[in-house]
Amino acid sequence: MIKNLVKDVASQAARGLIKTLPLPISLPVFLERAKGPRGAHELKNRTVFMTRFQRPFDREVAAEYVGQGAQVIVLDPQANHKLLDGLNKPEASGGRIHRAPSERDSIESYVRSLKELLPKKDAPGPRSKIVFIHTLDLDQSKSEESVLEILEDYYKTGHAAANLLVPGSRLLFLVPPSSHNQDAPQKMALAALGGFFRTLSKEFGKKGITVHVVESWPSVHPGHCARIATYLSGPRSSFLTALWVKANRNPELIPLNNTGLLHGKTAIITGAARGIGASIAEAFAAEGAAIGLNDLPNSEKAAAKTLKSLRKQGVRTAFLPFNVATEKGAQDMAQAIREEFGSVDIIVNNAGITRDRTIKRMSQENWSLAVDVNLGAQLHVTKALDSLIRDGGSVINLSSVMGIAGNFGQTNYSAAKAAVIGLTEVLAERWSSREINVNALAPGFIETRMTSAMPLINREMAKQLTALLQPGLPKDVADLATFLASPLGASITGQALRVDGGMAIGK
Ligand code: NAI
Repeated sequence: MIKNLVKDVASQAARGLIKTLPLPISLPVFLERAKGPRGAHELKNRTVFMTRFQRPFDREVAAEYVGQGAQVIVLDPQANHKLLDGLNKPEASGGRIHRAPSERDSIESYVRSLKELLPKKDAPGPRSKIVFIHTLDLDQSKSEESVLEILEDYYKTGHAAANLLVPGSRLLFLVPPSSHNQDAPQKMALAALGGFFRTLSKEFGKKGITVHVVESWPSVHPGHCARIATYLSGPRSSFLTALWVKANRNPELIPLNNTGLLHGKTAIITGAARGIGASIAEAFAAEGAAIGLNDLPNSEKAAAKTLKSLRKQGVRTAFLPFNVATEKGAQDMAQAIREEFGSVDIIVNNAGITRDRTIKRMSQENWSLAVDVNLGAQLHVTKALDSLIRDGGSVINLSSVMGIAGNFGQTNYSAAKAAVIGLTEVLAERWSSREINVNALAPGFIETRMTSAMPLINREMAKQLTALLQPGLPKDVADLATFLASPLGASITGQALRVDGGMAIGK
């Protein structure tokens, strides 16, 4: 405790000093991060504003927030009473639904009326964070010109949010199945939303406020969209911003059990002796998964430390010492998995290395090393485990923002990480009939041994280039991986999700 106090005082002093210096350095806000396994009522300090409440879709979303302990305030003056009534009973979670009809005609009076609804600053208890949810209603739009009205609607939402949201809050745009129709006005409206919400994420980031779009495809159960929205509103997604997440498949909506999101599952994680892989292993084990931890044979010491900490969580573990960048290494690992676990539910292709040089100075050896580990390993491992992964499983492939945006001196790494996104799409398609969801994670700047090798000035610049003005932690990647591998993220497939605090580069 004294150590933490000293750390706090030192960091306060450093912040004070930095503020007085004439440097173009902005200081980030502290991001809330939840520890341990997911709790049932993680949204209990959230006040949720919903601008629309007219369809069963809206009811499903509100019910998920209330069930997780949030106070939901329905602003829609035309709210559907019948849908509201069923929700209005006291919940064990402490979550409740309230009505506060607010007209949007005049933006000034709209903002004033919403401000009055905010929990008072001097109210006892922890300060509530706000989740502002705007559900699009594009099915009414007829002419192409109607897109101008839709943009005005975006303006009202963004302007109100900018005036209301306290640090650590969220702004979510929901695209219900009814708005999915890709006629000309909808196409333009969704394209505009892309530019709009990414810009908002850049403007709001310095306050730790994040912005996302969640889109539900037709015939997907609205409960899936609700689960994605609540995850993006909670304390395990605070480093994520500017994500456009699609509920694009419709698996059975499995009720969550109390024994851990991944209880009874077996996960194989490559390159997991340390860094992001180790953190994913910890997060999976906290949710009850058995862990097959792969790394190079010479990583035994680091692996032993990680395995010791996993065993403390009471889960079954095994070290799988193989070089998965070779076909033989991946096949030998598959054989070891067959003997140890019999089958697999989750594969995380995490092993990765960098060998940076400009293309002019890049040796063939450095080119091949980076490509073989970052891409070859994922090809070999998914092929070798094809007969071992069970139906309904989940695959997560580590890509990188550099695979999306490119980066000076990283042709080998960027090409391989971009190919990982292609591989993810191919596997998602190939395994869709087996109900396996396959996604890529594209981290930006995460503090690990890989990034500690970067020169100090590059590290500082990388932080300043994020909307949230800070690097991520391995835990941020691990939390999103856990979500995707669990019933919470089962409706998401074939997508590349950035874990980058809103980096300035790339789409
Ligand atoms: P790290 O260097 O801390 O850990 C990587 C692990 O992979 C090491 O334990 C290493 O021994 C293992 N490994 C390397 N080659 C292997 C092989 N052939 N077979 C088995 N294991 C092997 O790296 P970090 O930062 O934890 O990165 C994890 C993943 O995340 C990588 O794929 C990386 O490219 C990706 N990533 C990381 C970012 C960051 O900011 N740290 C940013 C973007 C992507």
